[in-house]
Amino acid sequence: PRRMVVVKAAEAINPDIRKTEEKVVDSVIVTELAKPLTAYCRCWRSGTFPLCDGSHVKHNKATGDNVGPLLLKKQ
Ligand code: FES
Repeated sequence: PRRMVVVKAAEAINPDIRKTEEKVVDSVIVTELAKPLTAYCRCWRSGTFPLCDGSHVKHNKATGDNVGPLLLKKQ
């Protein structure tokens, strides 16, 4: 039997939030963090989810999206 493979084009996950920005990044200042900076993934493509591994860069280039991580910074 012949198999049909359907390849779906990549789609942006951010429909309308702050689309004028090149990359949407938010920071939260937290005083009791062990590390000075921790980035949490919001693109759902990280190989180290929930931590960001930079995979959003490839996703943004492929889709025209502008997603980026949530940064937790030790004060
Ligand atoms: Fe998902 Fe960076 S890898 S926001």
